[in-house]
Amino acid sequence: MVVRVKQFTAWKQQGQPVAVLTAWDYMSGQMADQAGADMILVGDSLAMVALGYENTLPLTLDEMLHHAKAVRRGVKNALLVVDLPFLSYQTTEADAMRSAGRMLKEAGAQAVKLEGGYPRMAKTIQTLVESGIPVMGHVGLTPQSVNQVGGFQKQGKSPEAADRILQEAIAIEKAGAFSIVLEHIPSKLAKTITETLSITTIGIGAGQFCDGQVLVTADVLGLSDWQPPFAKRYVDLREQGIQAVKQFCDDVRSRQFP
Ligand code: KIV
Repeated sequence: MVVRVKQFTAWKQQGQPVAVLTAWDYMSGQMADQAGADMILVGDSLAMVALGYENTLPLTLDEMLHHAKAVRRGVKNALLVVDLPFLSYQTTEADAMRSAGRMLKEAGAQAVKLEGGYPRMAKTIQTLVESGIPVMGHVGLTPQSVNQVGGFQKQGKSPEAADRILQEAIAIEKAGAFSIVLEHIPSKLAKTITETLSITTIGIGAGQFCDGQVLVTADVLGLSDWQPPFAKRYVDLREQGIQAVKQFCDDVRSRQFP
């Protein structure tokens, strides 16, 4: 089934959970698509996963475009959403339009994701949506704000912080976003947001009550050298890969291969 933005509202109404995976190149995009992911996100986590940066901040728009184009070539059915990198949309609404527009025109993205909500980002989301660009919001832990937040810890733990995140999510829905990522927040808060909003909530480290779940594919495959506590490793490809490559090296040196 070829997935479109409108499908997410139908799935929420039917109570059908949505499976989202990240991808960073042709092969990871193709794997996630062939496995049947509903949405594939070219997340800016690729800054660490594919490029070895310490966090998401150094990633440029051109680097993101390069990776998004590769993922596009591998994805046939899932909805393709691309993250807008740090400072490619926070500066001005015009910058946000230009950056999001390039993702759609040059990389073939069907939607963009950006972090943060009320009040400034909600206005930016509204501008993008009114221009025909579907937007996914992202609240809770927003890694592009790591310097302000002071780390990657769970957000929304106090009643005041929880209410702030809820209000941001409401503002993002009102601005016209079709879906929203809830990252690393208490499951009670994610449940409240999911019940309050009519758009699809996609959780990561936000408990079981979201409309869908997303994981970074490198974590699912056990490729990452570090992964957050809420990620689940379904296979240890890193260790298996090292062993396979080591075997090749040994076979060459002992003339077992070819
Ligand atoms: O960049 C990313 O991979 C993300 C997901 C964790 C939602 O934003």
